[in-house]
Amino acid sequence: MCGIAGCVGAERAVDEVIEQLSLLEYRGYDSAGIACPGQGSEGLRLVRVEGRIERLAAAVAQADLAAPSVAIGHTRWATHGGPSSQNAHPHTDCAGRIAVCHNGIIENHRQLREWLTARGHVFRSQTDTEVIPHLIEELLLDQADPSPVESETAIREALARLKGSLAVTILCDWLPDRVYCFRQNSSLLVSKGPNGVRVASDAVALGSAMTEAFELRDGDFATLRSDSIEIERLDGGSVKRRPINCNGQNGRVGRDGHAHYMHKEIHEQPEVLRQILEGRVKDDRLSLPELDPVRSPARHCSRIYLVACGTAYHAALGVRDEWERRLRVPVQAEVASEFRYRQPALGEEALVVLISQSGETADTLAAMREASRQGAATLAVVNSEESALAREASAALFCRAGKEIAVASTKAYVSQLACLHLLGLWLEGLRMRQAPSDVSQTLSALRALPAQLQQLLANEDAIVRLAEEWRGVRDWFFLGRGLDHGTALEGALKLKEISYLHAEGFPAGELKHGPLALITPEAGAVCIATQSHLTVKMASNVEEVRSRGARLLVLTRESDTDITREAADVLPLPDAPDFLMPILSILPLQLLAYHVALLLGRDIDQPRNLAKSVTVE
Ligand code: M6R
Repeated sequence: MCGIAGCVGAERAVDEVIEQLSLLEYRGYDSAGIACPGQGSEGLRLVRVEGRIERLAAAVAQADLAAPSVAIGHTRWATHGGPSSQNAHPHTDCAGRIAVCHNGIIENHRQLREWLTARGHVFRSQTDTEVIPHLIEELLLDQADPSPVESETAIREALARLKGSLAVTILCDWLPDRVYCFRQNSSLLVSKGPNGVRVASDAVALGSAMTEAFELRDGDFATLRSDSIEIERLDGGSVKRRPINCNGQNGRVGRDGHAHYMHKEIHEQPEVLRQILEGRVKDDRLSLPELDPVRSPARHCSRIYLVACGTAYHAALGVRDEWERRLRVPVQAEVASEFRYRQPALGEEALVVLISQSGETADTLAAMREASRQGAATLAVVNSEESALAREASAALFCRAGKEIAVASTKAYVSQLACLHLLGLWLEGLRMRQAPSDVSQTLSALRALPAQLQQLLANEDAIVRLAEEWRGVRDWFFLGRGLDHGTALEGALKLKEISYLHAEGFPAGELKHGPLALITPEAGAVCIATQSHLTVKMASNVEEVRSRGARLLVLTRESDTDITREAADVLPLPDAPDFLMPILSILPLQLLAYHVALLLGRDIDQPRNLAKSVTVE
C-alpha cells in the first residue's frame, strides 16, 4: 500500500507533490511526509506528520521551505512500525543527505539492519524502509562529495541487495536536480509535461497536463530530471518503454453534494448498471469482443476458478452457484491470498477469472501470475482499466463503475456481480448450452435492475430509522444460504469496516454447528432470504434466532410474507430472478452500514487501519 509521489522541474514542487499525495491518499493515510532540497547549503528539508495529507499541508505551510523545483513525498499505510511521524517517509541516512520513499516490504530488512547497525549506522524508525538510505550511505564509503556516477553506482548496488516488493524514490542533497526511481513488484509510473516530470504509484497522480507517461516494469531504474526521463534496467542495460495512455485516469473526483464518497457511490449504482450494459447488448445478443483472446480456452476449459479478495471475493460467491448451474463445469470461488500459496493444480484446462476493483491488489496479481505460470488462461473482471491486472491478464472485462474513492467498496461490488453475469452468459453461449429464451429473459431482467435499485434508494429514510434503532447492537450476525451467503458476508464486511462494530457473516445452515451459542437477546441477526429453493430452510433459521431472543431484520422479496411474519424489522426487496437478487439485496445493507457508521461518528470514507488498495500482501 502507501502512495509515492515526486516532482522534478515544477514551479512549486512541494505544492504539486502535496496535491499528488492527496490523490493517492486512498492507498494509506496514517502518516505522510515530503523531502525537498533546502536553501543554499541547508541540505535536505524534511516535513513528516502522523495523520493525513491535510496535516502535512498545514505542517509544510509552517515550515518556511524555499520554493524548490524538486520534491518527493509519501502517504503511508503502516506495515513495519506503527503510525507515527518518526515512521513516516521519507527516511534518511545518518547524515540526513539521502531521502527515500518506499512502497512495499523489504523482506531482508532485519539482516541488513543488523549489519548496518554493526557498522555504526543509527536507525531512528522501526520501518524496513530505513535500511535503504543507510545502505546507500554505507556503499558510498564516506565520500563527502561523490560524483553522479559514483552516487548512481552505490544506489543501484544498494537496490540490488534488497529482497521483496519495492517502489522507491531517492533524493540526494548533492544532486538536487534529479530523483532516482526503482520498481520491483510494486507499481510506479512516470510522466513528463510542461510543468516538469513526475513519479507516482498510480496514474491518477501523474498530473493533468502530461505529454507522455510510462509505467516502469519490474527491475526498471529511472532517473528523472526537469526535462527528461531516462529508464534503464537496474544492472545498467538499456530499455525502451512504450508510452501509455492514462489521460482519462488523472484528476480529482468530487462528492457532488453528498456528505461522503461512499454515499455518492451507493447512489451511483443504478447508473453504473446502465453503463455496464451500454453497447454490450444488441438485439438480445451479447457482444463482448474484448474477450476474444480467451475464446478458445473458455470454450474448452474443464474447471473455472473465481479468484479475488475482500468484497470482490464476495462477488465471486454471489455468482458461483449460478455459473455452475449454467455451465455444468466445476466452479470454485477462492480467496487470492490462499490460492496463490496452496499450489493449486491448474494447467491448460483451467480458466482463472480474477476479480478486482483496483486491479492492483497484490494477492490477486500474484494469483494471476501463478495461473499464467501454470499455463491457465486468465481473465480479469476489473474496474481500473490502467491497472496491472488489466494489462497482464489474457483478456479483461471492464466493470465501468467509474472511480471508486471510498475505502468501503459499493458500486464496484454491484458492477462485479453484473459483469460476472454477463460473463457467465457469454461462457454459456460459447459452450453451446444456453436456450435463446433464457438469454433474452436474463438480459431483460438485467435491464430492469437500475430502476429497481432506484426504488431501493427511494427507501433510504426507512433505513435511516432502522439505523437509529439498531445502532446500539454490538454483535451483528448476517445469515444467508446459497447466493445469499455472499450477500451476508458482504453486508457484514460493510458494517464492520466503517462502523467498527462486531459483524460476522455465516451460511445460515452453519448456525447450529457453533455460532448459535452467540445468539442472545443482545445480538442482532440480519437474515437474507431471496433464494426461492432455500426459503423454507431459511425460515427455520429465522425461527432459530428469533426463539433465542435476538433482534431480527429480514431482507426478502416484498411478496414473501411467510418468512417476515415473525420479524420485528423487514426490508422488502423488488422482485427479480433469484440469481440477480444479490445485486438488489446488498444496497439496503450498504445504506444501513453507512447510516449506522454516520450515527456513530465514524470516518466513513477512510476507516481506521484500512486502505483502498492493498498493494502489499
Ligand atoms: O481492488 P480490489 O477489488 O482487488 O480490492 C479487494 C479488497 O481489498 C476490497 O474489496 C476490500 O475488501 C474493500 N475495502 C471492501 O469494502
